[in-house]
Amino acid sequence: MTTCPVRTIAKIYSDALVNKPKEFWDYDNFTPQYQAIESYCLIRKLGRGKYSEVFEALDELNNEKVVIKILKPVKKRKVKREIKILEELRGGINIIKLYGVISINSLYTGLIFEQVHNVDFKHIYFTLSEFDTRFYLYELLKALNFCHSKGIMHRDVKPHNIIVDQSQRKLRLIDWGLAEFYHPGQEYNVRVASRYFKGPELLVEYGYYDYSLDMWSLGCMFASMIFRKEPFFSGNDNYDQLVRIVKVLGTQLFYQYMEKYNICISSHFQELIGQHNRKKWERFIKTENEYLVSEDALDLLENLLRYDHMERITAKDALEHRYFAPVVRYNKTKSLNNNVEKESERQVDGESTK
Ligand SMILES: Nc1ncnc2c1ncn2[C@@H]1O[C@H](COP(=O)(O)OP(=O)(O)OP(=O)(O)O)[C@@H](O)[C@H]1O
Ligand SMILES: [Mg+2]
Repeated sequence: MTTCPVRTIAKIYSDALVNKPKEFWDYDNFTPQYQAIESYCLIRKLGRGKYSEVFEALDELNNEKVVIKILKPVKKRKVKREIKILEELRGGINIIKLYGVISINSLYTGLIFEQVHNVDFKHIYFTLSEFDTRFYLYELLKALNFCHSKGIMHRDVKPHNIIVDQSQRKLRLIDWGLAEFYHPGQEYNVRVASRYFKGPELLVEYGYYDYSLDMWSLGCMFASMIFRKEPFFSGNDNYDQLVRIVKVLGTQLFYQYMEKYNICISSHFQELIGQHNRKKWERFIKTENEYLVSEDALDLLENLLRYDHMERITAKDALEHRYFAPVVRYNKTKSLNNNVEKESERQVDGESTK
């Protein structure tokens, strides 16, 4: 006899789409508006993703550099979903801005984005200072809180999908190709996110997940940032990925999680998992990373890397966590200084026109 898993509902923003018109989330019935392709001139290739090729280009109409992501001809539905989500999130804090969409020979779709002079987050995050680690994580949380509040899960949070322009202290969350609208009680595909960042719910094939999936992925990134270990959970395949997690968080809490939500796994998988004690986070502290680790950092990490998705801290609450107190202080001082600067400029202008 097979039992059904317990369906959970996101503990925050679960109703984000309930009061929205159907057009907001119904990407199946959405027709993208294409712009004229003539005004764009490709300059150079920036990178290649699993589903796309990305170029730097010149928008000759506005004389502005842009980035064009040319999507490989995958399922039309997936392309529509990415465009619809990017349109709904346009203007949101730290979300990559979509300028428009072009169609190339009716076969390929090109997404036109703002250009960020980035160094891949993956490359810079091992060079970040202790303060900047807090600073950029806070910026990323703002983007996640924004998309979650709009009823959207990113489902592919990882260093590759975060771009940073350090000279402007600007961070953008990119790659909305796996993002999806959250409808409470809906069962979702568990084949999302990249292996090292997959939450336990995906690995045990529990489809009633929600925004808290992104918080697990963020937790994996945070662990690798403060412990200087990339990736933090480095599974060789999806089974091994869970084994790596269980070796840190222990089997006792894992089986409690499975029982709580009535989740079953095969006996072969159970054998692979074995028996492990929970490790203390302090075990990962080494001379080269100790300056990044603090009581507050470990407390935040503890609240992110929970098996139980319902127990994970939300992006909204994480923004209020003590770990970010220095960032909040810094932002306050910065805005105070800006105001003082503006006020004195105003006075000088006033005096000069007298
Ligand atoms: N607006 C942008 N400005 C600068 N670089 C960008 C921009 N958008 C994308 N890139 C670069 O292109 C790469 C691929 O983009 P993206 O992640 O959107 O594509 P993908 O094919 O969906 O990737 P994946 O391999 O993760 O599935 C990024 O990792 C980044 O280095
Ligand atoms: Mg990507």
